[in-house]
Amino acid sequence: MTAKLIKGTEIREEILEEITREVKEIKEKHGVVPGLVTILVGSSPASISYVTLKIKTAHRVGFTEIQDDQPVDISEEDLLALIEKYNKDESINGILVQLPLPKHIDDKKILNAIDPDKDVDGFHPVNVGRLMIGGDEVKFPPCTPFGIQEMIIRAGVETSGAEVVVVGRSNIVGKPIANMMVQKGPGANATVTIVHTRTKDLAAHCKRADILIVAAGVPDLVKPEWIKPGACVIDVGVNRVGEKISEKTGKTIAILKGDVDFDAAKEIAGYITPVPGGVGPMTITMLMLNTLKSLKFKLGLM
Ligand code: GUN
Repeated sequence: MTAKLIKGTEIREEILEEITREVKEIKEKHGVVPGLVTILVGSSPASISYVTLKIKTAHRVGFTEIQDDQPVDISEEDLLALIEKYNKDESINGILVQLPLPKHIDDKKILNAIDPDKDVDGFHPVNVGRLMIGGDEVKFPPCTPFGIQEMIIRAGVETSGAEVVVVGRSNIVGKPIANMMVQKGPGANATVTIVHTRTKDLAAHCKRADILIVAAGVPDLVKPEWIKPGACVIDVGVNRVGEKISEKTGKTIAILKGDVDFDAAKEIAGYITPVPGGVGPMTITMLMLNTLKSLKFKLGLM
């Protein structure tokens, strides 16, 4: 069997088109567009490239966007004051503080200072709690799990009554996606198991999965014989395993590998996400959707 590829690059385009259309409609009817601010502290090349892409995507869908770059030695107090400024700014619907932050700043303190109704990353404890309750309580699901659920829905994979096994228990992927898939509602109603580094028989759990979501950060962790024939395999891993010269640009680029042995797995699975081009492009896309939702909540449209 050759699995159907679930391409994040294609689903991203569909969703960004939908967002662009909706932003135009809201602008015509209400005279406002969503506003997103990204706060970048320091100049880590990886963070710069993420923030640049977020700002470019926000611009593409018609948002107003502010890139607020701060020096690496900004004090915690000044950063908190900056967040407070954007909490009060009526034109801003989404505040994103790019992580990781420098060591002298307490991440938790900063994330907890963001107004939960502008926390489009979905990292604030209030939004984590809202996600746990589910249903109408949910405002901003964290972007990567939100993207995974959307990919599963758009690929037409049945989730109701499905056995979902999540490999990994991080706060940004494993725990929230497991919580989302167990709720009532579309793309959910599943029976969910979370497995992790202390799980006794990882293979036995994976073999039961109708939907296998792997976010462990270990290249090729999941072997083809762990996959149930016809299963939907979502690979969240982005592991840099080396470097190569790009044929297109001649520049040195990273060789990326997922957490699943893709070449072998695609012969057994029914659906599979590639790495790169699978889950990766969905995270920024869902950040845009959360920012649009934030404005819609404010306007009473949701
Ligand atoms: N750094 C890496 N990924 C993320 C993300 O999703 N949100 C934020 N704020 N920082 C990140």
